[in-house]
Amino acid sequence: MAGKRTFTMIKPDAVAAGNTGAIIKMIEEAGFKIIAMKKALLTKERAGQFYEVHKERPFYNDLTTYMSSGAIVPMILEKDNAVEDFRTLIGATNPKEAAEGTIRAIFAESIEANAIHGSDSDENAEIEGSFFFAGVEKF
Ligand code: RTP
Ligand code: MG
Repeated sequence: MAGKRTFTMIKPDAVAAGNTGAIIKMIEEAGFKIIAMKKALLTKERAGQFYEVHKERPFYNDLTTYMSSGAIVPMILEKDNAVEDFRTLIGATNPKEAAEGTIRAIFAESIEANAIHGSDSDENAEIEGSFFFAGVEKF
């Protein structure tokens, strides 16, 4: 159903720091249901595919190096108004600008190593979820 799902990834800095459980707890307490979840390692090439929209940006090479530097935890989440509510929960890209109490304000190290990803539209949530998971339509 439109507006019900989003896609997220706990990024390598947060996984390496041992914050996976604390972040998942915040996600569930905010009312999101986990539809699919796993631990995975992206190659630099696959990280490049995931962030292809940013390939002309100056930070693209650093970003794909960082995103392939350690394990990530991708998830499909369900909640009414999922995309917008999840972006609110994670906070601004730069943790210095992220609102107090948001996941990035609490856990992010820098504008790049910013703990977590959240899809920016229903269309991208579908594309990004399919990048990691298949066969979750029936949940
Ligand atoms: P995301 O896609 O990961 O949820 O993050 P976002 O929408 O808040 O930010 P976006 O503009 O899509 O950027 C994607 C990721 O690239 C890294 N970044 N580094 N060094 C920099 O200036 C810079 N800007 C962005 C961050 O990891 C950001 O989340
Ligand atoms: Mg983005």
